[in-house]
Amino acid sequence: MLKNFVTYDGVSIPPVGLGTWQSAPNDCYNAVRWALDAGYRHIDTAFAYGNEADVGRAVRDSGLPREQVFVTTKLPSDVKDEKGTEAHLVQSLRNLRMDYVDLYLIHAPWPWSDIGKDCTQGNIAAWGAMLELQLSGLVRCCGVSNFLPSDILPLLDATGVMPAVNQIRFFVGNTQRECTFFCQENGILVEAYSPLATGNILDNGVLAQVAQRYNVTVAQLCIAYCLHKGTLPLPKSVNQQRIRQNIDVDIALSDGDVALLDGLEGIGPYRKLRS
Ligand code: A2P
Repeated sequence: MLKNFVTYDGVSIPPVGLGTWQSAPNDCYNAVRWALDAGYRHIDTAFAYGNEADVGRAVRDSGLPREQVFVTTKLPSDVKDEKGTEAHLVQSLRNLRMDYVDLYLIHAPWPWSDIGKDCTQGNIAAWGAMLELQLSGLVRCCGVSNFLPSDILPLLDATGVMPAVNQIRFFVGNTQRECTFFCQENGILVEAYSPLATGNILDNGVLAQVAQRYNVTVAQLCIAYCLHKGTLPLPKSVNQQRIRQNIDVDIALSDGDVALLDGLEGIGPYRKLRS
């Protein structure tokens, strides 16, 4: 049985989360309902995805107590000040119709429209505001997304508090080794978004061969690989059968197969997020 992850500040996070990036609102509602029926207890959304309301409605309609579902949302990447951070969290809570979120992340170190821009001061301001929101009980746990070590260290210098989570793009062939190593060495939980490379590595021949050895699909293999690497996978699907499949991933990979998959670094699409 898969175990929950626990952040350095003691927050327990269910081991596979449903990703909802690129899930259209209605699809997202169904996906969250199916996921909760299938045993998921962790849903990842963001203000920028435009589907927070559907996530919230699906969680409510599931009948599960709120505290049994771990919900993450994210501060839009272009909001880099204290007031804006507070205001956006309030708006996200309204969208979700929830009293708190379990995890709140700075979506990216720079606006998506200006990738690579130095927003260090803005990130420090947003981070400080998030820590206040955590103290006030509106957020249980705080973190970042798409941050490199050089983006994280100034937050620590300014506030003395390390993010509990860094959610990064992580899949077989794109494991961001330096960033992952830095985070894990420093007790920051790495969450893997796009663990299936948004579907683009699922027809890889080597992966198909390895998956066959375990009698699982390539998608299940990719998700199990993330877990094996100590990262928390967030596979996205809006298909009920695939949603079910993606949580059935308690697969003990052999060291040899992990090494084989490690050697695939560079397969799949890799759009560099900065030069
Ligand atoms: P769909 O939503 O129709 O299931 P990632 O998690 O890396 O972003 O990948 C998401 C993509 O992979 C989506 O296109 C999704 O399509 C597809 N996908 C998700 N789970 C599976 C699966 N088990 N088998 C095949 N494709 C999948």
